[in-house]
Amino acid sequence: MKVVLVTGSNSGFGLNGALAFARNGYRVYAAMRDQSKGNLLRRLASDEGLEIRTETLDTSQPSTFVECINRINSESGGIDVVVNNAGISRAGVLEDTSEETLRTVMETNYFGPVLLSKTLLPSMRERRTGHIIMVSSLSGLAGLPCDFSYTSSKFALEGATEAMRHEVDRWGIKVSLVEAGMYATNLLGERKDGEESIFPHYYDKESPYRDLMEYKWRRTKDRLPDAFDPKVVGDLFVKIANSSGKRFRWTADPVAKNVVSELHGHDDISRDHYLRKISDTDWWSEGKALPTELEG
Ligand SMILES: NC(=O)c1ccc[n+]([C@@H]2O[C@H](COP(=O)([O-])OP(=O)(O)OC[C@H]3O[C@@H](n4cnc5c(N)ncnc54)[C@H](OP(=O)(O)O)[C@@H]3O)[C@@H](O)[C@H]2O)c1
Repeated sequence: MKVVLVTGSNSGFGLNGALAFARNGYRVYAAMRDQSKGNLLRRLASDEGLEIRTETLDTSQPSTFVECINRINSESGGIDVVVNNAGISRAGVLEDTSEETLRTVMETNYFGPVLLSKTLLPSMRERRTGHIIMVSSLSGLAGLPCDFSYTSSKFALEGATEAMRHEVDRWGIKVSLVEAGMYATNLLGERKDGEESIFPHYYDKESPYRDLMEYKWRRTKDRLPDAFDPKVVGDLFVKIANSSGKRFRWTADPVAKNVVSELHGHDDISRDHYLRKISDTDWWSEGKALPTELEG
């Protein structure tokens, strides 16, 4: 039985991934930073008669990784697949983002997955097998405004993942990257509590970027009903883990597929044009006033 470790398993992609792996015969270690948030996963697993083991793992605390991995190794003889899924998003432009936030997002979205993979690599190399799956985002391919810290962390993750893939293939270790469009998860946490709270910090402050953030918020809200079901990504994790590993970048939905194909087929000038088109922020770059109507 193959052993999989999924980080950030108490909600969204991670929760759906843990369930999908269990349904497909994997021995699942569902990691989360706070066990008390794991009740939904435990309940859903028990409803389906699935066995899922939970582990405590905070991806921003690399000093705790070895202990968790040793525990799994001694219980199950090694980890075959890791899904580096845990992540956070903090909306905001660079000028409005604190150094602390920049570092927290980088610790969670970049250093966490990279250092967890680094900790796992020696045993994967020794066993000449293993699969590292990194969960990126279209924000890791496109530098769009308003998500500065998140975009930076996912770009870094993309580069690290691509480099790692070519470093470890010699030992039969597979490395894959997941690109996804917009899904109905807790990533923007406050979304479900009401419209004013999507970008809460912008409602109390005088920011020179307030119009841009407000427009971005309105646009996000307008598109929320079209958000995809995270179950799709959970199932995709299993498909990737069962694959030969030849394919590097996996797109979860038609939006991701479209953006990836557009971005890989453009020179820099047309790429700029395309990015502004998909973020619908030409008006901002051209110094125009906040549009009253959404476009595109
Ligand atoms: N939803 C989307 O539209 C979308 C699109 C592209 C990519 N992604 C990526 O998909 C991944 C999963 O996000 P999601 O959409 O499923 O959002 P989610 O429902 O918010 O899930 C994120 C998970 O990561 C966990 N997490 C955050 N910081 C952590 C830490 N330091 N240590 C351990 N766990 C931590 C969260 O735990 P807590 O509950 O404790 O915070 C939660 O379980 C992220 O990497 C995200 O960037 C999402």
